Amino acid sequence: MPVKAVEIKKDIYWVGAVDWAVRDFHGYETPRGTTYNNYLIMDDEITLIDTVKYDFATYTLKNISGVVDPARIKNVIINHIENDHVTSLDCVMDLAPNATIYISEKGKKGLERFFDLSRWNVKTVKTGDTLTIGKRTLEFLETPMLHWPDSMVTYAREDKILFTQDAFGQHVASANRFDDEYEISNSPVELEDAVVDYYANILMPFGQMIKTKIAEIQAKGFEIDIIAPDHGLIWRKDPGKVLGMYLDMANGKARESVAIIYDTMWQSTEKMAGPIAEGVRAEGLNCQIIKLRATPTSVAIKEFWKCRGALIGSPTLNNILFPSVAEFLTHLRGLRPKNRIVGAFGSFGWGGGAVKESYEVFKQMGLQTVEPGIQLAYRPSLADEEACFEFGRTFARQVSEYHKGF
Ligand SMILES: Cc1cc2nc3c(=O)[nH]c(=O)nc-3n(C[C@H](O)[C@H](O)[C@H](O)COP(=O)(O)O)c2cc1C
Ligand SMILES: [Fe+2]
Ligand SMILES: [Fe+2]
Repeated sequence: MPVKAVEIKKDIYWVGAVDWAVRDFHGYETPRGTTYNNYLIMDDEITLIDTVKYDFATYTLKNISGVVDPARIKNVIINHIENDHVTSLDCVMDLAPNATIYISEKGKKGLERFFDLSRWNVKTVKTGDTLTIGKRTLEFLETPMLHWPDSMVTYAREDKILFTQDAFGQHVASANRFDDEYEISNSPVELEDAVVDYYANILMPFGQMIKTKIAEIQAKGFEIDIIAPDHGLIWRKDPGKVLGMYLDMANGKARESVAIIYDTMWQSTEKMAGPIAEGVRAEGLNCQIIKLRATPTSVAIKEFWKCRGALIGSPTLNNILFPSVAEFLTHLRGLRPKNRIVGAFGSFGWGGGAVKESYEVFKQMGLQTVEPGIQLAYRPSLADEEACFEFGRTFARQVSEYHKGF
């Protein structure tokens, strides 16, 4: 659906594209689709902040053209060189070949891997550098590893807008551009869920850096009326809300509840999950059961992240973890979760191995564990079900104890 440029503040336009159909975003499932947001500032020097994914180049060019002839663009700021934001840069530069690109040093190095930069004017910027474009001054703040080494944010001082590239974004395709509109057309809860989903899947490893950078933004005294990310809704109603959510998550906030995440071949591990969940409930904690083969990995990651405790269930296949569980744990390990307590369960036939391997991965991740886990041969007997129930209770008590530390 073509969407026209939308003025987000006087003379500042969203000129991005809505990707209603994407369901696989670099392997991350996006059931709600996404948007690629970029922004055009109409001042003495017309300035474009970011571009979009290559197959949406025509959309952004059309949106820009609805406001101004793209040939008049003087500055192009690239806050983040990931493919979804730079791969239409050449289409923009074809129309505005004399524009100057402003980018971090690391960004420039990376950009050389995408384009021949010798034909373009490229200036590198660092934290504290400013660019005066007429009535407005833009200030840059590098945010390395949030979430790529080159990442930076751009602050429009007079308008009090922080352009944050991926940070504070959400994978949500919508006809709405703003948080308040989406909260009415959908719901605040759905928007919050999309924020948690994005944080869990992309930003989980970088909590410490998030705290440092938010403190740096506060120390600089940036007043913020609008947070304009590169995906999803723009925060104009209450940008403090998403800042608060990020700080909470970076500080280890989670629900005092349990996610039971498992897979199964012949339903024995699955049959263990039920009584374990009942044991958790008997201790008054909420819990939910997630079967990996029935759930997108990104959803399982999000549910893991919401809960203080997680139990991972896997049958043994050829002495080791079931592949979908191994995949989940590999994904999780890369996200370097903190402040969570975990345990493992599973059914085996003869030698076993999956529960042991789960704990090895937990140790690699440095997570708090409840040991031993629970495993049984073939089908759970009635006595095994009772033992699973007790294991759920014990685990829940440990979750509550651990939760007191937050
Ligand atoms: C969420 C995310 C995290 C990444 N983490 C790393 C990393 O830790 N180290 C690294 O060298 N590259 C990292 N990359 C960069 C990719 O490896 C890079 O974009 C590569 O070109 C992708 O190759 P592909 O096109 O075959 O998927 C990451 C990319 C994404 C999207
Ligand atoms: Fe990104
Ligand atoms: Fe992105």
